[in-house]
Amino acid sequence: QAAQKGGYKHFMLKEIFEQPKVITDCLAGRVDWNRMEVTLPELAALPVPKRLHIVACGTSYHAGMWGKHLLESWARVPVNVEIASEFRYRDIILDPADMVLVISQSGETADTLAALRIAREHGVKVAGLCNVVGSSIAREADAVIYTQAGPEISVASTKAMCSQMVLLTLMALHWGRNTGALSETVRANVLQTLKKLPGQLETVLPAMRDEAQVLARTYSKAKSFFYLGRGHCFPLALEGALKLKEISYIHAEGYASGEMKHGPIALIDPDFPTFALALNDELFPKVKSNIEEVQARRGKIIALTNPGVELKVDHPWSIPDAWGPMAAFLVLPALQLFSYETADYLGKDVDQPRNLAKSVTVE
Ligand code: G6P
Repeated sequence: QAAQKGGYKHFMLKEIFEQPKVITDCLAGRVDWNRMEVTLPELAALPVPKRLHIVACGTSYHAGMWGKHLLESWARVPVNVEIASEFRYRDIILDPADMVLVISQSGETADTLAALRIAREHGVKVAGLCNVVGSSIAREADAVIYTQAGPEISVASTKAMCSQMVLLTLMALHWGRNTGALSETVRANVLQTLKKLPGQLETVLPAMRDEAQVLARTYSKAKSFFYLGRGHCFPLALEGALKLKEISYIHAEGYASGEMKHGPIALIDPDFPTFALALNDELFPKVKSNIEEVQARRGKIIALTNPGVELKVDHPWSIPDAWGPMAAFLVLPALQLFSYETADYLGKDVDQPRNLAKSVTVE
């Protein structure tokens, strides 16, 4: 096992550090860098859906929530994202022109597989975004897009989410081209950003880990954490909170920043810290005012932000800029590393957290 971990203390850490390669592998053969074009032959036989229903569980569900922002904005395809265990027992409305996209690292999650079967019974086309080749979901879907993340051993999913996000980005570009909704400027910005992302991430990961280590030590005694984000950063806040719960057993809640005032802010006190996603984008002024609301209740703040941003918080954590929602590829490893370092500092079993399974194949 030590050899398999490639010198890393845990599989989770190794898998976090593999993300630059995962991005490269997911793009390989799918982007023609000379012509700056995306090809997804897996989707060639399926028309652009009238409405897309993304169905998944856990971390894969968060990837789907993030993808909705890109698919709606760039391809103008309306997207409904749903937890598989809810979708399967709801009186769903599906139009034959709709498509269901199931996202699953393992391709074996019982609820997601059941959702796929229900969608097919309704006569709707199902595409699967899977990591494990030949898995049940991959076999039963009408079209399968493989995520090329490589085997993920750590129970807490990291690099698989990164790979799902790359593929969702490519799907949004692919359909955006077909619907004519995607502007040339956006397409060029996204592809240029993706091209340099593996190198950028590779360079920044060691320093990110150092910062995560310092913060983990400072905050490891916290009993509870809030994770706040807006727009495409809201699903990332949910994922940050999930990662912390899963491996460190610290209670954490992910919230849409603007929703804090409708209840959760009552919980804030000097011992209830907040991890805010405060990137330098158009929503920054809104996030900043949400941070100030927390500070007014003497809540401590870690803020993941970008260079040059004016923000007075206890722990600003600056990460490099990336164009638009592509910033998520730099936010995600920071969240993962903070959870990893916290759990490791607390002496938890990082790769095999209590009560959790890598793949939930029973209901
Ligand atoms: C389990 C794992 C999670 C994972 C979820 C969905 O709960 O512990 O890490 O996100 O299942 O798994 P899937 O394989 O369908 O993506």
